[in-house]
Amino acid sequence: MKKVPVALLNITKRFGKGEEIIKAVDRVSHEFEAGKLTALLGPSGCGKTTTLRCIAGFYQPEEGDILVDGKRVNHLPPYSRPTGTVFQNYALFPHMTVFENVAYGLRVKKLPEPEIKQKVAQGLEILQLSGMEDRRPDQLSGGQQQRVAIARVLVNEPQVLLFDEPLSNLDAKLRVYMRGEIRNLQERLEITAIYVTHDQEEAMSISDTMLVMNQGRVEQVGSPLDIYRKPATEFVADFIGMTNFLRGTIKSTGDPRMRVSIYNVSFELPADDRFDVGEVVTIVARPEAIRFSEGGEAAFNGTIHSAFFLGSLVRYEIAVGDGDLITMDDSNPVRLLSKGSKVKVEIIPHSVYLKKVEKTK
Ligand SMILES: Nc1ncnc2c1ncn2[C@@H]1O[C@H](COP(=O)(O)OP(=O)(O)OP(=O)(O)O)[C@@H](O)[C@H]1O
Ligand SMILES: [Mg+2]
Repeated sequence: MKKVPVALLNITKRFGKGEEIIKAVDRVSHEFEAGKLTALLGPSGCGKTTTLRCIAGFYQPEEGDILVDGKRVNHLPPYSRPTGTVFQNYALFPHMTVFENVAYGLRVKKLPEPEIKQKVAQGLEILQLSGMEDRRPDQLSGGQQQRVAIARVLVNEPQVLLFDEPLSNLDAKLRVYMRGEIRNLQERLEITAIYVTHDQEEAMSISDTMLVMNQGRVEQVGSPLDIYRKPATEFVADFIGMTNFLRGTIKSTGDPRMRVSIYNVSFELPADDRFDVGEVVTIVARPEAIRFSEGGEAAFNGTIHSAFFLGSLVRYEIAVGDGDLITMDDSNPVRLLSKGSKVKVEIIPHSVYLKKVEKTK
C-alpha cells in the first residue's frame, strides 16, 4: 500500500455565534508522517475530535488547508476523501449481519458481487472474524464489534486511518489487548493512522508520535519517550503522568559536570550551557526519578505523608524541606512504610530534566 502523509496548515474551526464563539481548533499545523501512527492526546474538550473530523471531512474548517498526499482535500466530502474513520460507538448497522456491515461501503460503490465477497472475506480474516459472517452485532462481544467496525473501514482501502477513542467502550483488559491489535495491524499495513484518545497510557503505548493538545492548540509534538521525559510545558508534564516540579539552584558549572542544589544537598548533572551559576531552575522529576537513599551527600530527609500500594509499586507522598510534598515510586516493593516514617531520599540524576523557570503570566 502507498504510504501518504497528511498535513494540516493553520487549521481553525469555530463553533457558535457572536459572544458565544468557541475556537475548538485554533491555528493547528502539523505534518503527520506517512505510514506512522500519530496520537492526538489531550483533556476533554481540547479539540481532538474536531481536528479529526476536519481531516475526515465531517467538519469544514473556517481557515487553513488540509493536504493528503500533498493534495488539498478541503472541498471534498468525507466519502471522496482517501480516509476511513473508526468511531467510538462502532456505528454498526444493528439489523445487518457482519458480512453486510463490512460489505456496506463496497455496495455503495457498486462493486461486482464476487469482488465484494473476496474483499469482505479478506477484511474479516485480517481482523480474525472469519466464521462470524452471519451474526448480527448484538451477537458479538464489544471487542468483536469494534473489529467489525475496523474491517468495514479497511475494505474500502483508505490511505489514512482515523480513530476516535475506538476502545473507550471496552473493559480495561480488552482495551489493552485491542490497542496492541490496532498497532500490529497499522504496522503490518504500514498505513498512516491518526488516533484520538484522552488516555495518555494508550497514546504512549501505541504511537510513533504524539501531539498533545490544550484548548484547541498544539502544546507539544514528539515521540512518547521525549514527551514523557522532556515535557515542554507544565501542562504537558502534568497531563502525561505525575510529575514533581522542584526548585533547585545551580551551584557550579563547568565541563563535563555541573552541580545543582536542592533541599540543602547537591547532586551532579552533565553540564548544560543554558544555565548560569546561582540561577534558580525547575527540576522536572517523575516519581520514578526519586528513590530511597542509604545516605551520602546527595540524600535529603523526608517524612512519609501517604502511601498507596499499587502492586508493582508503592507510590509515596513524602514531606521534604519546608513541607513540600514530593511523589516518589518505590518499584518492586518489599515493604510498606507508614505515615510519619522518617526516610532519606535522593534524586536519580540521569532521570531528571532541568528547565528554565517559567515566567508567571
Ligand atoms: N458540533 C459542535 N457544536 C458546538 N460546539 C462544539 C461542537 N463540537 C465540539 N464543540 C466544542 O468544541 C470544543 C472541542 O470539542 P471536541 O469534541 O473536539 O473535544 P475533544 O478533545 O474531542 O474532547 P473529548 O475528549 O471530551 O471527546 C469543546 O469546547 C466542545 O464543546
Ligand atoms: Mg472527542
